[in-house]
Amino acid sequence: MARLAFVGLGAMGSRLARRLLAAGHHVSGWNRTPDKARELVGAGLTLAKSPRAAAEGAEAVFTMVTDDAALRAVALGADGVIAGLAANAVLVDMSTVSPAVVRELAAPVAARGAALLDVPVSGSTITVEQGQASFIVGGDAGALERVRPFLLAMGTAITHVGELGLAKTMKVATNLGLAVQMLAFSEAVLLAEKAGIARERAVEALLKSVVASPMVRYRGPFVLGQMSSDAWFKVAMMQKDLQLALDAGRASGVPLPLTSVTQEWMTAARGLGLGDYDFAIIFDVLARLSSAPPSVKPRAS
Ligand SMILES: NC(=O)c1ccc[n+]([C@@H]2O[C@H](COP(=O)([O-])OP(=O)(O)OC[C@H]3O[C@@H](n4cnc5c(N)ncnc54)[C@H](OP(=O)(O)O)[C@@H]3O)[C@@H](O)[C@H]2O)c1
Repeated sequence: MARLAFVGLGAMGSRLARRLLAAGHHVSGWNRTPDKARELVGAGLTLAKSPRAAAEGAEAVFTMVTDDAALRAVALGADGVIAGLAANAVLVDMSTVSPAVVRELAAPVAARGAALLDVPVSGSTITVEQGQASFIVGGDAGALERVRPFLLAMGTAITHVGELGLAKTMKVATNLGLAVQMLAFSEAVLLAEKAGIARERAVEALLKSVVASPMVRYRGPFVLGQMSSDAWFKVAMMQKDLQLALDAGRASGVPLPLTSVTQEWMTAARGLGLGDYDFAIIFDVLARLSSAPPSVKPRAS
């Protein structure tokens, strides 16, 4: 069994690391807030004192943090992951961040004789728990072969899209579809409801129709008051991804009109104090404007 490291043990990182532990690997981990990693220690994780200490001696090091700033914070500097990388190790960044920040890390990683891959994750916390997450990979094909067994311990499918950084673009291109679909689904449900169809019946019809993507099947029941209190993917996190998509579109001359409109609906959700909910809460923004009942009772702020 391999010696691995996992840095960033939040909602996604903790579940991914748990799968590596369950596969019998030795995993050394670090999280900015160590208390959040206690449960994983019970599952066999060795808690390290710094990202660097976690990475030392590991064959593959995985990072899964919020955004560009967080990735720079855990990767660079005297206590960062890169300072601890062994020669021939592979650093696998799984965060949804900009392609630019990943490319920025390429030279310092190469200077240690290690390899870097960008491997964002498609799926949510529940998908990871079920072992159904899929991975988009950017970077060297040989490095991918070295970490393939570890990725397959965490999920099912791997798509290599090309050189370093491209997987991050593919990931935000995927995520813009989630948000746009949720807005379209909300419009459909409310249109049907205001015409006199019970919300439950409208959702049932849509879930049995060709628009029922896995995202719609997961989140459709949310508009019936079944949204988990533990947000799967908060509005703010989705806004980060939509902004990464809009920035990439602007840079490459691809207009993203639907992404742009959906981003405004996410801002409206935050404006209404709904930012801590799953992004499916944009249904409630539209419901309020349609004089229809919201899907959740707003939390006291
Ligand atoms: N949730 C999903 O469904 C999902 C699906 C696919 C991809 N993703 C992507 O996965 C990444 C992680 O998301 P998540 O849902 O796991 O979020 P999360 O639960 O909020 O975890 C974020 C992690 O980043 C760490 N972090 C944030 N800022 C940091 C900093 N400045 N220095 C060091 N560590 C920092 C957090 O540490 P603390 O614990 O100390 O705050 C935590 O470990 C994001 O890029 C997200 O877009 C999420």
